[in-house]
Amino acid sequence: MKRREFLSLSAVTALALLTGCGGSNSSTTGGGPGNGPGNGSGNGNPSLPPANEKLLPIPPALHGNVFDLTVQPAQHEFFAGISTSTFAVNGSYLGPTLFLRNGSTVSINYTNTLNEIISMHGHGMHLPAVMDGTPHQEFSSGDTWTARYTVKQKACTNWYHPHTLDRTAVQVYKGIAGMIIVEDDESDALDLPKRYGADDIPLVLQDRVFDGNGQIVYAPSRMQIMQGYVGDTFIVNGAIEPTFNAEAKEIRFRILNGSNSSVYELGFSDGRNFKQIATDNAFLEAPVTMNRLLLSPAERAEIVVDFTGEKGQTLTLKEYRHNKTFLHIDVNKDAGSITTLPSALTALEHLDPSSAVRTRTFTLEGRMGSFSINGRSMDMNRIDERVPLNDVEIWEVTNTMGIDHNFHIHATHFMLLERNGSTNIAANEKGYKDTIFIPGGENVKLIVKMTDYTDAVVPYMYHCHFLEHEDNGMMGQFTVS
Ligand code: C2O
Ligand code: CU
Ligand code: CU
Repeated sequence: MKRREFLSLSAVTALALLTGCGGSNSSTTGGGPGNGPGNGSGNGNPSLPPANEKLLPIPPALHGNVFDLTVQPAQHEFFAGISTSTFAVNGSYLGPTLFLRNGSTVSINYTNTLNEIISMHGHGMHLPAVMDGTPHQEFSSGDTWTARYTVKQKACTNWYHPHTLDRTAVQVYKGIAGMIIVEDDESDALDLPKRYGADDIPLVLQDRVFDGNGQIVYAPSRMQIMQGYVGDTFIVNGAIEPTFNAEAKEIRFRILNGSNSSVYELGFSDGRNFKQIATDNAFLEAPVTMNRLLLSPAERAEIVVDFTGEKGQTLTLKEYRHNKTFLHIDVNKDAGSITTLPSALTALEHLDPSSAVRTRTFTLEGRMGSFSINGRSMDMNRIDERVPLNDVEIWEVTNTMGIDHNFHIHATHFMLLERNGSTNIAANEKGYKDTIFIPGGENVKLIVKMTDYTDAVVPYMYHCHFLEHEDNGMMGQFTVS
């Protein structure tokens, strides 16, 4: 255990002994600064007031073809009676969920009312490089930048976030992020939970460091830049251990690891099984039964949990690497519809490795506070790779370090061919991915194909999505032509 976690846990334990409230969810009444954490499960900083305990917030859903998003300074109530300064999209923390229809042409208008430059990236979206929202499309305070493109991909759960050169980590940390849900005829036809906010639930998982006044602190040490800036307060959709009142039926959770640099190992407190139905960029071909789900930063998974006949049941969604609780689930509503998870979900395109025309190798390296890929740190003026359109390629990525990384490729999805030389891929990794976890010392082979869009000048990015690593050089640029 890291020393900081030990201190925070022991303080919570001491407090629980003093107040006799350890182990159960405390109420919000009588709270005030200094009265301890809003829960008894080790979440939060004991010097902070109680959590603004409440129901799971559901980001507003926006439908249509034109989306007006304002990236703004805001105040958000993480703790009862405390205003925390944040950045947000339209609201007070995070942003609305955008529903995009495959085949439709959309305009996403981002207006920057912050006092700093930003770019806004559609993570997981298959689109032209000039619409990607990378550091090459930064826009200033007072300006509006529009991502306009035709949606051309399968149903999936993507997200948007800043991608500002050297400033992505702090801007995401202050609250700029939101989900993008792509829907298509196939997702329409499947008998899946799809009542957004009722049985189809977005979960943006994050963790944060707060100071004694309940303000967000983004101040990673050099060690934390290396090993991860993991907060002691775990939040979901901007709330600390909120409660979701579930219908007694199948519930679909669209889970995004929206953290800067935390790997989450998720499961339910009763150890129950659930089915993973989608990876980053599409449904899996068939549901995969599991009871633990590992997600590194920026990865998504859709899961279906069956609460049929369980009215009265209470449980929690837990994070086992840091021993935290994200969400309380009270199954206390009658089913508003019946769904029956299909045994086949979609057909994926499996590119043949023998059709690959070349292998590119990427070596993730670093020393204290500075990172590189193939010995080079990110340089806006250097194109690292030129990828021919429609060529099938193998991208082999090696983490040479003793710390965890992941690898994200813009503009497309890929599939995992090998992990550490083995073609024995876990069933829930046999899907379309745009971000792949690479623990310390490990190696992956990905099969990649760039399609549809060329631009000889404007690049896309590939990078580690641990944001402190990305901002400190672990990113490269490629063009497609
Ligand atoms: Cu989620 Cu290059 O980004
Ligand atoms: Cu991306
Ligand atoms: Cu990394």
